[in-house]
Amino acid sequence: MALKIGLLGLGTIGSGIYEHLLKRDDIHVVRILELLRHPGLEHLETSDYSEILNDPEIDTVIELIGGMEPAHTFTVQALKAGKNVVSANKLMLSHHMEEILTLARDMGVHYRYDASVGGSIPFLYNLMRYRCADKLTAISGIVNGTTNLILDIMQREGRGFEDVLAEAQREGYAEANPAADIDGIDAQCKISIASAVAYQRYVRPEAVNTEGIRHITGADIINFKRLDKVCRLIASSTLNADGTVCAYVEPILVASDATEAAVHLNNNTISVTGEYFGLHTFQGQGAGKDPTAFAVELGLRDILDGVSPRLNPIPEGYAEVNNDKAVHPYYVHTSAKLEIPSRALGDGTYITEPVSVRAMHDLARRLRESDSGLFFAGIQE
Ligand code: HSE
Repeated sequence: MALKIGLLGLGTIGSGIYEHLLKRDDIHVVRILELLRHPGLEHLETSDYSEILNDPEIDTVIELIGGMEPAHTFTVQALKAGKNVVSANKLMLSHHMEEILTLARDMGVHYRYDASVGGSIPFLYNLMRYRCADKLTAISGIVNGTTNLILDIMQREGRGFEDVLAEAQREGYAEANPAADIDGIDAQCKISIASAVAYQRYVRPEAVNTEGIRHITGADIINFKRLDKVCRLIASSTLNADGTVCAYVEPILVASDATEAAVHLNNNTISVTGEYFGLHTFQGQGAGKDPTAFAVELGLRDILDGVSPRLNPIPEGYAEVNNDKAVHPYYVHTSAKLEIPSRALGDGTYITEPVSVRAMHDLARRLRESDSGLFFAGIQE
């Protein structure tokens, strides 16, 4: 048996998977949806999706156009047409997870989204398996390669934010609109998806308190070094005993010898906690052409091998997100009056008393009305 593929998008990841599949004789790309024409591929390329949708030979669609639309519509149409879909689209999936997973199950086809969280790291696949034999209670880690590259190089080499962001874009790590990386939205989508898999309750991405690294300055980096800390953008979720979930994304200052501090460049690290097995940590390349194409290829390979769609769990209902229970001190730089007890470090920087994630994110939203450049980072204790 061979898979016949309709490939949507020939950008960084799309061209990567196309090149990988050329080396296989059991997965054939028979059509490519692409607005641009690429020399030598014109015979495969079309700008009309119906040529893929209505082609009975195509049994599997690889969706790599990203973003919300038309990715959502194309995915729904492909599933309704009885085609498997393999995707790396965390934005679309996190906002339509219930619809997409339910539709795939009802149609008896695969929706494989391993590549949407952690790039090359087999994280979601293992979450799906782990949850069959243990109760998963927490997920935490670095899930955005672009911001990790920026933070790591700013701290180790003293280079500027824009300069390193441009490098991430050149290397194909950053999203088409890098605001999704810098403002933490990409990480928000990923923790929403991973939490749904782990806890079997959907977590609405918009309920995840989310802060990025847009406002970090060179002066902040110098302060972190003085405090013997390293800044990382961390996505975290915890299943509370009452069934609610703490879920947030924010810069966190970790000890300079912490696991996360040793995660360099575009790498990711993600930990999962289970009641029986304790803590497992995964690490590897979370972004980029070949690592992500590799994860897409694994999803295709699983379909070929007949891995049961039942491995792909369908969560039941939505979890309430309650970030009152997550409490820690924060580093803040602001010209506004900080309304919580704190110790001044000088030059408008502070370390607060422990405060809940919800309270800090709410406060930052209010204070930005007078200080749009406010930056804050949780401090890991
Ligand atoms: N922009 C994302 C990142 C791509 O930098 O991690 C991988 O999801």
